[in-house]
Amino acid sequence: MKKVVIFNGSPRMDGNTATILNIVARGVRDNGAQVKFYTLFKMKFMACQSCFACRMNDDCIIRDELHGALQEVKTADGVVVGSPIYMMQMTGPVKNMYDRLFPLTDSQYNPRFGTKKLLTVYSQGIENSHMFESYFEYTAAMFPMLGLKLIGNIVCVNANDPESAEHNAELKIQAYEAGKALTI
Ligand SMILES: Cc1cc2nc3c(=O)[nH]c(=O)nc-3n(C[C@H](O)[C@H](O)[C@H](O)COP(=O)(O)O)c2cc1C
Repeated sequence: MKKVVIFNGSPRMDGNTATILNIVARGVRDNGAQVKFYTLFKMKFMACQSCFACRMNDDCIIRDELHGALQEVKTADGVVVGSPIYMMQMTGPVKNMYDRLFPLTDSQYNPRFGTKKLLTVYSQGIENSHMFESYFEYTAAMFPMLGLKLIGNIVCVNANDPESAEHNAELKIQAYEAGKALTI
């Protein structure tokens, strides 16, 4: 059975990021694949300690709540990372999670665990959906070395209202279809 790992990087448990990710998860499951869902703000995990052990071995030496998620990513077919925009960037836990994915790339910065499809989801207060495009692109530059092939990016605007995504039918269809696309 195919597997998709989803990370929610919002502190709002029922906010826009969660709404979109739950719909993505439904698309994944409707195509017969398994979902592992991690809510980063509920997890206790350390930031990367720069020990560089993962430059020699394909694992992180930190045994905390993120370690299990990292193991799931290694064997996943797809990954989804959802983050609100805070101060024009991803939230802190999402950045810390990405750093902890360092074991996915080898000492030559080649992927150790093959290629997985990646969907990114961002929510932002500002209405202009192009506002952070250059930041999204810049962030995406790290994905190839991790073996993450970006297949889509969903952006929820006007997201200070936690029900903005719920009221956006087009966005919800996009999320559902993206979930399905992750499994094929
Ligand atoms: C500390 C903080 C900083 C924020 N910075 C930005 C920002 O730079 N640009 C923006 O459009 N929205 C900003 N916002 C608004 C959030 O992006 C918005 O509330 C969030 O996307 C809601 O997503 P959620 O419902 O999934 O939690 C900020 C919110 C907070 C709490």
